Amino acid sequence: MSAMKSFIDDLMNKMSLDEKIGQLNLVAPGGFTNTGPETTKNVSEKIRAGQVGGMFGFWGVQNVKPWQDIAVKETRLGIPLIFGLDVIHGHQTVFPIPLALSCTWDMALIEKSARIAAVETAADGVNWVFSPMVDICRDPRWGRIAEGAGEDPYLGSKVAHAMVHGYQAGDLSKPDTVMACVKHFALYGAADGGRDYNTVDMSRIKMFEYYLPPYRAAIDAGAGSIMTAFNEVDGVPCSGNKWLLTDLLRHEWGFDGFVVTDFTSINEMSAHGMGDLQTVSALAANAGVDMDMVGEGFVRTLKSSIQEGRVKTEAVDAACRRILEAKQALGLFDDPFRYCSGKSVEKILSPEHRAAAREMAAKSCVLLKNDRQLLPLKTSATIALIGPLANDRKNMPGTWAVAGDWQKCVTLLEGMQPRAKVLHAKGANITNSKEWAERLAIYGNNRIDIDARDPSDMIREAVEIASKADVIVAAVGEAQEMSGEGASRSDIGIPPDQRPLLEALKETGKPLVLVVFAGRPLTLEWQHANADAMLLVWFGGTEAGNGIADVLFGEVNPAAKLTATFPRNVGQIPIYYNHKNTGRPYLAAGGYEDKFKSRYLDVVNEPLYPFGHGLSYTSFEYGPVKLDKAEVEGDGRLTASVTIRNTGKYAGEEIVQLYITDPVASVTRPVKELRGFEKIMLKPDESREVSFVITVEQLKFFNSALEHVWEPGEFLIHIGSSSAAVQSAKVVWNK
Ligand code: NOJ
Repeated sequence: MSAMKSFIDDLMNKMSLDEKIGQLNLVAPGGFTNTGPETTKNVSEKIRAGQVGGMFGFWGVQNVKPWQDIAVKETRLGIPLIFGLDVIHGHQTVFPIPLALSCTWDMALIEKSARIAAVETAADGVNWVFSPMVDICRDPRWGRIAEGAGEDPYLGSKVAHAMVHGYQAGDLSKPDTVMACVKHFALYGAADGGRDYNTVDMSRIKMFEYYLPPYRAAIDAGAGSIMTAFNEVDGVPCSGNKWLLTDLLRHEWGFDGFVVTDFTSINEMSAHGMGDLQTVSALAANAGVDMDMVGEGFVRTLKSSIQEGRVKTEAVDAACRRILEAKQALGLFDDPFRYCSGKSVEKILSPEHRAAAREMAAKSCVLLKNDRQLLPLKTSATIALIGPLANDRKNMPGTWAVAGDWQKCVTLLEGMQPRAKVLHAKGANITNSKEWAERLAIYGNNRIDIDARDPSDMIREAVEIASKADVIVAAVGEAQEMSGEGASRSDIGIPPDQRPLLEALKETGKPLVLVVFAGRPLTLEWQHANADAMLLVWFGGTEAGNGIADVLFGEVNPAAKLTATFPRNVGQIPIYYNHKNTGRPYLAAGGYEDKFKSRYLDVVNEPLYPFGHGLSYTSFEYGPVKLDKAEVEGDGRLTASVTIRNTGKYAGEEIVQLYITDPVASVTRPVKELRGFEKIMLKPDESREVSFVITVEQLKFFNSALEHVWEPGEFLIHIGSSSAAVQSAKVVWNK
């Protein structure tokens, strides 16, 4: 018997049933962050009574330690608490939102973001982070697309793996590692209509093929915990779904960490129509939930359910054991205060961490358009920096930056001013609507300052300033809380009150660069048609302004590529690159030669910007795809290569993407699927051969029996600079 097991056996032998149930209770005292209607009352009394296993929603040694003191010194068994927090894209040093970071396709950088976040979080008394969020999303109306890695399961799985490694570094007993909590299990990103918390209904093939791989990847990377999703799967809410939490997660995937619910999601099963609090709490316990977040259904009802035979004591024992094991893995039984030493607090917001944030902010920027090489800006030019986000600090962190202090963020104006002559005017409000501004003011923080002036006066001033400049840079887009939790939108354009400003700037005839702030793919058809250049900067975090300015002035050559498709209009949603063909495929944008195809009458099927799209200040030329063999036998290997040359004036990075098509199979397969990528750096005129080794692993899919198989036959191998710009070659793969 391992030492860990015998320690926990001994401890559990001493615990009463009430104390065991107490370990399953996760409470939020409130005051910092709260994403549900409730906070926990009488927390100290509950801890003393052995009714609390963990706490979340605050940070700082001075805030954490007093609670741990009560748990360790004033309870019968002195079992330490675990402390959780939503650390989503950095902690006090805020990095770009996860969707932005995913656009770097740079796994080392993404891992570093989680590593630094772990160092800061651990220094701040917290040992458990509610991240990574790995929900695949094909619907940008859903505001939480901001928190994930976009639409692709292959890329999403790589990101999930990198994040877990960053947080846990393979050893939770180290003082600067924290436990990851993968979320939201499962399929949360597929809410009907993109409306948050809404119903999900999906075939098993679709789940296994497209939505489940990133959760699995995070678990295979060793994530210590997983959070259930709010939505239902197959008609049963995730927090009560035994198939999901036990059959799949534990039996098929072998997960041995603990399962925590999302905020009051056990209680919410009553509104879903699953019964009263005792019934839904029993359902959750029997399904495989270990810890109950905030709702207290477990502490209030599990004992009665056991007495009535509705829940077995073994279920409570198993859940309690897993939570104690997590605490032991974190070293809390050796030293309950190991995250409270205050030793490493100087690392928080250190110059090194800010430098990393700046690099990440720059590397997340996606160059959507750059006519006549308008960007990079010349430092000799006079620049009119205009727009509601030009000198806005409050919206730089991005959604879910709970410990991030916006006052420590760098604005775009501050980033640009030291490098060129920059004239500035606000020009417009993010929105003129006070109602909108209030709706977005979560945690009492108003993020939208509505100018007292009349909007037309603001435009007049902006045009006046623009007339004195050589080039206009317009900083426009969403406020940060327009994406994130509870932030679904039915119109995903730039808020309409900014349009008159853009029209007036366009009318000046000056070269027009748009810097677009966004937490989701936006509909940008008008902007694409009217701007000369567009840089998508998402929400860049603490160093946003410096990072964006690095790109605008060419110190960093943009290389990021979209990880979610940008639709032309909302009617095209859901829209994603790895779609199936219909029986009436539509081949290309253009005329209406044949009406009876799978198409819209009023818009082409193609998105505005496809998955994988992103320009550079330089240009790359791709040679033909070369395969080392025309036929491959069984478990052989195929090497696909392409030579890429930098044909432009700047050194630059390119993300070379490998896609595969399986044109004939026993179930329908997507038109193409990402199966590899490599980021390379090339100097002007330099060329490099990039090779991908392909095995049957990359050909596998889930068949009708949900077996993960490959089927022999012909395959198309595509390599290119985006999902819509590839060159292809054919191979035959024999059994
Ligand atoms: C609700 C959110 O869905 C989840 O992502 C978050 O971790 C919890 N609240 C805790 O704040």
